[in-house]
Amino acid sequence: MKICVLPGDGIGPEITAEAVRVLQALDLRFEMEEGLLGGCAVDACDTPYPEATRNLARAADAILLGAVGGQQWDGLPREKRPERGLLGIRKDLNLFANLRPAILYPELANASTLKPEVVAGLDILIIRELTGDIYFGQPRGLREENGERVGFNTMVYSESEIRRIGHVAFQAAQKRGRKLCSVDKMNVLECTQLWRDVMIEVSKAYPDVELTHMLVDNAAMQLVKAPKQFDVMVTGNMFGDILSDEASMLTGSIGMLPSASLDEKNKGLYEPSHGSAPDIAGRGIANPLATILSVAMMLRYTFGLEEQALRVENAVKKVLAGGYRTGDIYERGMLKVGTKEMGDAVLAALA
Ligand code: IPM
Ligand code: MG
Repeated sequence: MKICVLPGDGIGPEITAEAVRVLQALDLRFEMEEGLLGGCAVDACDTPYPEATRNLARAADAILLGAVGGQQWDGLPREKRPERGLLGIRKDLNLFANLRPAILYPELANASTLKPEVVAGLDILIIRELTGDIYFGQPRGLREENGERVGFNTMVYSESEIRRIGHVAFQAAQKRGRKLCSVDKMNVLECTQLWRDVMIEVSKAYPDVELTHMLVDNAAMQLVKAPKQFDVMVTGNMFGDILSDEASMLTGSIGMLPSASLDEKNKGLYEPSHGSAPDIAGRGIANPLATILSVAMMLRYTFGLEEQALRVENAVKKVLAGGYRTGDIYERGMLKVGTKEMGDAVLAALA
């Protein structure tokens, strides 16, 4: 069981260190090797996704990623920006299925900006297609036209791309509440008319799952109006980018949310849903729980170790119940801890 660890930028190294300690504590004989991705890779190798990292990542069964990005790299040409490293590894490893759960932990109910009755018990899984759509579509670029600059990108999905993410979504729904909402913009975009048609075709193989469709603007509205109507949502790359940020904020604690990006054989890249938080980097105060929960997803999806995954998730729940809080989820009366102490608390709960 080979794991490639990519700590990345900002708070990435601090939070990944805690997640690695959790992995080691499980005593499962993982082989771990570290590599560079993002801004740190640009600094060291002049590219955000170096050859050496590519080789490590390709050879691994799973990848644990901290976060990439930071202001110091924002001025670089597009192909050298940290985000390009992330998009590069997703595309290179064919990680087309992005799973982003949004779960409200009862202990953190007050962290949400929404009324408790709207979000209490929230448990949504957003499945975002990750290697197609306008993110990668050709043609793309900038050109001069009639004496002015014109920017253009292409939204494109093939039937086979829609079908494979459809199967992932239906199978995920089968393991949960058996409700799948597919999000598109078929009233305007042909590309997403095809999305809807193919989802309906795929649904024939899953009579036990109830498929509904929603236009993306309405979905954005319903997510804040009545989020508990959703079980699993499936959508394209760009809509999924936006809706998954919205969904994560329903919980008020993005520092708690893990994510998985899987290929057809369940090889996966696991990372927290939050970013590199350069403003608090190096201060030992970042919340490592999203990364630790990403390890739980890795155990479940890539290694099929459901029992170990639950062990890690239960340890996190125990720590929350015990009152441990990093700054981002802190409330009066709780025990304020830093990154390392939070890791210590999870390790103690595991033991
Ligand atoms: C995400 C991020 C990335 C994306 C960026 C950093 C390229 O927002 O993982 O959601 O847009 O996919
Ligand atoms: Mg995003």
